[in-house]
Amino acid sequence: MPPRPEQAVPDSAAAAAVALSGVRHQYRARGRGVLALDGIDLLVEPGEALAVVGPSGCGKSTLLRMIAGFLRPTHGRITVGGTPVTRPGPDRGVVFQQPRLFPWLSVRANVAYGLREAGVPRRSRLPRVEELLDLVGLGDVGGLRPYELSGGMQQRAAIARALAPDPGILLLDEPFAALDALTRERLQDELRRIWLRTGKTLVLVTHSVDEAALLGSRIVVLSPRPGTVVLDQRSELPRAEHPRTEPEFARRREQILAAVRGDARPADPAPVHI
Ligand SMILES: Nc1ncnc2c1ncn2[C@@H]1O[C@H](COP(=O)(O)OP(=O)(O)OP(=O)(O)O)[C@@H](O)[C@H]1O
Ligand SMILES: [Mg+2]
Repeated sequence: MPPRPEQAVPDSAAAAAVALSGVRHQYRARGRGVLALDGIDLLVEPGEALAVVGPSGCGKSTLLRMIAGFLRPTHGRITVGGTPVTRPGPDRGVVFQQPRLFPWLSVRANVAYGLREAGVPRRSRLPRVEELLDLVGLGDVGGLRPYELSGGMQQRAAIARALAPDPGILLLDEPFAALDALTRERLQDELRRIWLRTGKTLVLVTHSVDEAALLGSRIVVLSPRPGTVVLDQRSELPRAEHPRTEPEFARRREQILAAVRGDARPADPAPVHI
């Protein structure tokens, strides 16, 4: 049956990796409505690294869960590659704040899990898994169990697992928030390298202004709940060779922080986590 006219996806949305149009989400909690997000219109281009920043409770995870297909918007529509999102799919890999690996499986088997589920034969699975473990710097620990790894290594394994089915889109919800500053910095650099190498579309939710400035080729700042877009900027910084030392880095983080604060005051020079 052809789609009804009001269901047709506009060309711009069909060409986008992810398109959100008039998206609103209201939870019901204890008989009360909680409006988490409102009036979100975003076209995420293929290959873009979208960093979504905003204060706690503004609806960032809600936004990501709707794109992932775990949650339906109460209003508006979301399409991925022009197709309305109704459920999770292999075109979207998800990385959560906690690695959520299967403790009874080796790191290698965890990474291979999605491929096995998709019916990829063992012969083609194995080289793909080794390639991914190398990509995230875990080439020599594939035989270990997750509890034998550090938190940062577990999170790298979770990234490899999400990349295994070769999704066009990688959705990450505060993936490095639980890690120490040094590990976090290292994984930010690795994620940037993976993005540059694979050309995947990223949607990265973060509390960290520095992380958004460093990794976002597009940066969206949300207001306090209900989250609405208060800043939407493109940036070339993630493509620089050494983005942390570029003068643009300081300028960009000040701009993001001003938008988060709702004013134009520049940030203090220390790393900022909101
Ligand atoms: N299942 C739920 N039922 C009711 N309300 C919810 C539910 N999940 C989230 N909320 C509410 O929706 C709002 C947005 O939540 P969400 O988790 O998306 O925020 P967030 O921006 O990810 O916050 P944080 O930065 O703290 O992770 C919050 O006010 C939260 O209390
Ligand atoms: Mg959240």
